[in-house]
Amino acid sequence: METLFNQGSNLAGAVDRAFIFIFAISFIFTIGITVLMIYILIHFSRKKNKNPQQFSHNTRLEVIWTVVPLIIVLVMFYYGWVGFAPMRQVPKDAMPITVIGKMWTWDFDYGNGKISKELVVPYNRNVKLNLVSVDVNHSLFIPAFRVKEDVIPGYNNYLWFKPIMKGTFDIYCSEYCGLAHSAMLAKAVVVDSLDFDKWLADLQVTGNLPDHPGLVVMQANTCLTCHTLDGTKVIGPTFKGLYGRKTTVVTESGEKEVEANDDYIIRSIEDPNSEVVKGYNRGLMQPYKDKISQEDLQKIVDYFKTNAAK
Ligand code: CUA
Repeated sequence: METLFNQGSNLAGAVDRAFIFIFAISFIFTIGITVLMIYILIHFSRKKNKNPQQFSHNTRLEVIWTVVPLIIVLVMFYYGWVGFAPMRQVPKDAMPITVIGKMWTWDFDYGNGKISKELVVPYNRNVKLNLVSVDVNHSLFIPAFRVKEDVIPGYNNYLWFKPIMKGTFDIYCSEYCGLAHSAMLAKAVVVDSLDFDKWLADLQVTGNLPDHPGLVVMQANTCLTCHTLDGTKVIGPTFKGLYGRKTTVVTESGEKEVEANDDYIIRSIEDPNSEVVKGYNRGLMQPYKDKISQEDLQKIVDYFKTNAAK
C-alpha cells in the first residue's frame, strides 16, 4: 500500500492534485445526486400530488446546470494539463536509460553493454527512459513516480522523471501482454548519486560492447534490440554476415533479390518498409530518414563492411 501514497518523483504532486480534485467532485456529485433523487421520490410522489402538473422551461435552472459543470470540467482540464505537459518535456540534462520490454520481463540498458534487471536511478537527477518493445504492446508503470507509458514495437516512446525519494518502488506492466503479464514485474531503486556511480561501474557487461563508431550509433538508436549480431532471429533479420549477403525482399510490386551493399543498407534504415526481407513483418520498424545523419549512416555502413566476416 505504501507506494500508493509515496510521491516518489517530481511529477507525482501534480498527478495527485488532478486525481484528488476529480475524486472530490465525483464524491460530492454522487452524494448530491443521491440525496436529490430521494427527495424527489418523496416530495413528488403520487400520494402528495394527486393531480399531475405540466411544466416546461426553467431558464435559470438550465443556465446553472450548463455553466457550473462547464466550469468544473474546465478546472479538471486545467489540473490535468499542468500535470501532463511537463511529462512530455524532457529536460536536456536527463540521463538516458533504454527500457526493453519483452514477454515477460524488463531489461534496463545503461549503454556500453551494461544491462540490469533492476531500474537503479540516482536520487534527485533527471532520468529519461526510452521505451522499446521487442514483441507486443507493454506498458511501463511506476506508481510511486506517477508515470505510465505504453511500450510499443516500432514506436519510440519515452518518459522522464526526477526521483525525489530514496527507496525501492514497484514497476508493473500495465498492458495485457499474454500469459505471464501479471508476473512482468521489476523494481525501481533510488540511491544516492555516489552509490549510483559505484553500482553502474560494478554492473557486469552482458550486452554488446561498442567497439566501433557504427555500433555506438546503432546502440543509441536501439537497433540491436530487434537485430542481433550473433545470428539469432528476433524481430528483424540478424546483422551477422550482413554485408554482401544476397537476400530476397518483398516490395509493393513483388519479390526481388538484392545484395546488401552500401545503398541497400542506407535504404533499409531510411525507408525500411519499402523492401522487407522475406519472412519478416512490414511496419515494425520506423523510417529513420532525417533521424540519423549521413555521417552516422556511413559509420553504420563501415561497421558492416569491416565486420562482414563476423
Ligand atoms: Cu508486458 Cu503486460
